[in-house]
Amino acid sequence: MTTDNTSLKLKKEVPQAEDFLPILGTDFVELYVGNAKQAAYYYQHAWGFQPVAYSGLETGRKDRVSYVLQQGKIRIVLTSPMQPKGEINEHIDKHGDGVKAVALWVDDARKSYQETTSRGAKSYVEPYVLEDEHGSVVISGIHTYGETIHLFVERSNYTGAFMPGYRAYAPLAKSAETGLKYIDHMVGNVGWNEMNKWCEFYAKVMGFAQMVSFDDKDISTEYTALMSKVMSNGNGRIKFPINEPAEGKKKSQIEEYIDFYNGAGVQHIALATDNIIDTVTKLRDRGVEFLHVPETYYEDVLDRVGEIDEELEPLKELGVLVDRDDEGYLLQIFTKPVLDRPTMFFEIIQRKGAQSFGKGNFKALFEAIEREQDLRGTLQ
Ligand SMILES: [Fe+2]
Repeated sequence: MTTDNTSLKLKKEVPQAEDFLPILGTDFVELYVGNAKQAAYYYQHAWGFQPVAYSGLETGRKDRVSYVLQQGKIRIVLTSPMQPKGEINEHIDKHGDGVKAVALWVDDARKSYQETTSRGAKSYVEPYVLEDEHGSVVISGIHTYGETIHLFVERSNYTGAFMPGYRAYAPLAKSAETGLKYIDHMVGNVGWNEMNKWCEFYAKVMGFAQMVSFDDKDISTEYTALMSKVMSNGNGRIKFPINEPAEGKKKSQIEEYIDFYNGAGVQHIALATDNIIDTVTKLRDRGVEFLHVPETYYEDVLDRVGEIDEELEPLKELGVLVDRDDEGYLLQIFTKPVLDRPTMFFEIIQRKGAQSFGKGNFKALFEAIEREQDLRGTLQ
């Protein structure tokens, strides 16, 4: 059993997955937001992301502004429109702030486009080349669920900070990192009876394979339910769980998301750390709000998961959850939605061997989410 959870396994982890679309990792996640300047401040000072690059009026770009931030291998791009109408405005009008692009780092963006569109993916943008004095980047893109897209980014011939069209972004004040390392998984919420359709999309169009599935008996409380399947690419670096609502006595969190996002979209981004107690303490001290777990959760948690390296008291104090599978255990915690609409949130995860997603925590977790829904008046 390995506890080295920062090293990404290179061996083929998901043997059923096909390799026509080799993906090296997540390149960046782009959010369309109403005010990128202030969002950039939030992600730097609350989350410890570091400034990398900027594009806007000063770089000759008049229609939009983008800030690029990074921590570990996690790169986020925050983009706001600079003029009325257009794709970004419409996206924000309909969805609020949210993830537009999940960009994947590939060796060959042209081949990635060709392989996926020939298998039925809808084109978002044909391959194009951006160049500057640091080299060139090739980008192409396809649509996935809702109005979310996947971009394929080929950057082997590029040595600049991010990509052509950007310049250094150096705000006056920097904020220390919080120990976030890489994106562990990114979850999509889709509508009623759409989970299988989108899992088939990832299997057929992207060559992904299903790692695990949860039905409404696994993920339900007295009131609400959902179903989920986890799709992974061949080397296991990209894991996309897909959720759909299931019938319950009251409205599930997935329906609430779909209502407020006006459709399918990215529900949560799980960020990995090597020290969840340290990371979550720092995030909480800077104002990141986490879901509250009842103290009763900790009364029998060690009976359930067995021995763990960490002291129980700080986990309890922070509200960190623990789960175990055949390969080890994991520690995880979820933020409240980070936007005004109850849509996107983050998970912080530390893997100590376990490759699963915290099934044993679902009930405690969803009861915590229901309490929040109840406060919003959307648990009906
Ligand atoms: Fe998750």
